[in-house]
Order: sequence, then C-alpha cells, then structure tokens
Amino acid sequence: MKVGIVGWRGMVGSVLMQRMQEENDFQGIEPVFFSTSQAGQPAPMGAGTLKKAEDIAELKKLDVIITCQGGDYTKAVHPELRKAGWQGYWIDAASTLRMADDAVIILDPVNRQVIDKALAGGVKDYIGGNCTVSLMLMGLGGLFRAGLVEWVSSMTYQAASGAGAPNMRELLSQMGVLHGSVASLLQDPGSAILDIDRKVTEQLRGNELPKKEFGFPLAGNLLPWIDREVEDGQSREEWKGYAETNKILGAEKPIPVDGLCVRVGAMRCHSQAITIKLNKNVPIGELEDLISNDNQWVELVPNTKADSLARLTPAAVSGTLSVPVGRLRKMKMGPQYLSAFTCGDQLLWGAAEPLRRMLRILRE
Ligand code: HSE
Repeated sequence: MKVGIVGWRGMVGSVLMQRMQEENDFQGIEPVFFSTSQAGQPAPMGAGTLKKAEDIAELKKLDVIITCQGGDYTKAVHPELRKAGWQGYWIDAASTLRMADDAVIILDPVNRQVIDKALAGGVKDYIGGNCTVSLMLMGLGGLFRAGLVEWVSSMTYQAASGAGAPNMRELLSQMGVLHGSVASLLQDPGSAILDIDRKVTEQLRGNELPKKEFGFPLAGNLLPWIDREVEDGQSREEWKGYAETNKILGAEKPIPVDGLCVRVGAMRCHSQAITIKLNKNVPIGELEDLISNDNQWVELVPNTKADSLARLTPAAVSGTLSVPVGRLRKMKMGPQYLSAFTCGDQLLWGAAEPLRRMLRILRE
C-alpha cells in the first residue's frame, strides 16, 4: 500500500508521525512524503526524496493520502485529484470535506459501523471530526449508543492548540509579559495585591502584550467566541456540535446538541462541562457503567474533589489518549438531567489519532 503523507511537519502532522511510529504503522506500507516548500530534499525515515505536495501526477500514484496540511490544501488539491480520476482513499483532519454527502467523519471507537458501511458502499473520503465533538463522543459515547440522550448542552474550555501552534507560543509569551510586569512586586511579600492586579489589568488592556494570533489576551483572560459567526448567534465551533455529532453517529433522528465554546489558557486539552437530558430516568450506577465500558480510553473519575482535581484536568491528561469523564451526578432540575465534565488531548483524539486508525482499518 502506497501511502502519501502531507503536512507531516506541522503540529498535528508531528503528533501523527509520532503516533504512527509508536504503533508501528509504517511497517508494511510504503510511505511517500510530500512537502509544499521543500520538494527534492531528503524525506524522513529514508523514504527517498520529498515530492511536491501539489503534484497531481505523483499524488495519483498513491493508494491512500493522509494530510494534516489544512483546509486550504484540501480545497485546492482534492477536487483536482478526483477530477483526474484518482480512486484512492483520502484521509484528512480539515473541515473542508467533513459535511460533504460522500465523506464520512471518522471516530472509529464511536462509529466503526458507519465507517464499515461507507467502505462497503465505496466511499473514499474519510475525515477527522472537530476536536471538541470527537472528545465529547469519546467520553460519552456509551450514553449515545444506549439511545439515552434526548439532548446535550456542552460548555467548552478549549485550549490554545486548537487555534494553532503560533497561538500556543503566544499564550506563553503573554503569560511571560504579565508575570514580568509585576515580578518585583511579587517578590515583595508586603506588596499590595490590588497594585499587582492594577498593573496586570493595565497590561491586559494595553499594547505591550503579544496578541497577533488571538487578537486579544488569552493569558489572565478567556475568549467566549471561537471561529467565525454563522447563524442564530452561534459561532462556527458551536454549529459543529450539532452537525458533526449527528453525522458521526449516523443518527436517523438528530439529537439536539448546543452550547457555548470558550477559549481558555490551557495548552492542548479541551475540556467540556456537559448537561445531558436523558430520555428516561436511569440510575447513576448504570450510567457510570455505560460510560466507562464504552471504550478502552474512557476513564470514569469518581465525583470527589480529590479525584476531580488530580485526574480531570488538562495538566493530568495532556499528551495521553485517556479521556476522563467525571463530575457525574443527577442535577437539581430532575432525575433525567445529568451533569458531567470531560477533558481530552485535542491533538490526539481530537486530530491525529482517528487518522492513523483509519489507515489501520483500510489495511484490515
Ligand atoms: N476548532 C478547534 C478549536 C480546533 O479552535 O479549538 C480543531 O477542531
């Protein structure tokens, strides 16, 4: 199997490469590496030289293309390739093709049967979902699968990485500037906290803070809007919740999913506070079993202060495939209302992992 890999040097691409190496995914395939800027230079893993990422003739020779190059690349190259008669499998992580009728959103621990049906039906485009949606379904897939969800509201706490690598750097630079502006006051235990706060607020509102990427301070702040405005006062990130969840599940009757998406100063883990209206009253123990037995990565965190603070945070989860779900309890609104909190690495399950697993499925 000849597998073209595009965008392997970027942030998601690097995570993908690392995961593929860890899982021996390169064994038994012939990787061909592409580049938008360095064609002709040596490829990684001794795989010859880098091919030009826009070279349709080279791309046409491949059985599978995995790209982390981003939506603009998909938009430019995918239609050209298909027009040229290419019949191979296209796997990417961009939103460009996600909602297309002849594309499947891949999250195989949750929707393997949707993927298998599409493969049998000759579908060739397999697209990773929005990170927030994928992470919610990895955590709460058991409840959806059991048909217990009447509706879901998800309030997100999304990390800087979702906006890109430069944004992660900017967040840290902002933290540094804020700290620097009050470093001497912090060293003096007798300094007044309100003086410190005033200086920090001046920085947050002033022009010294680096904010080219976010446009606003994220450190010491939060940003209650992600992506562009769409309709009904929703952001595009919020719009994806309903559209993609139902497409991933292959739902015949769509389940309402809505909420607010918020950027916070975490590095690469998206967290979500979730309210679920169940369509019947199910004892909490049964709900816990359904959640924790759904897949091998979900991890039920007991609803205690100690467990929540130690295990249900970006700091605990970052760089791992585990998807903890905790803060599970019935809410005061009634026994059909369930509260939950979940956290997951948006570069792994939210981006790279479903792609490498799709390649594995194609090889089965
Ligand atoms: N749109 C997501 C975010 C990242 O901005 O956090 C990718 O799905």
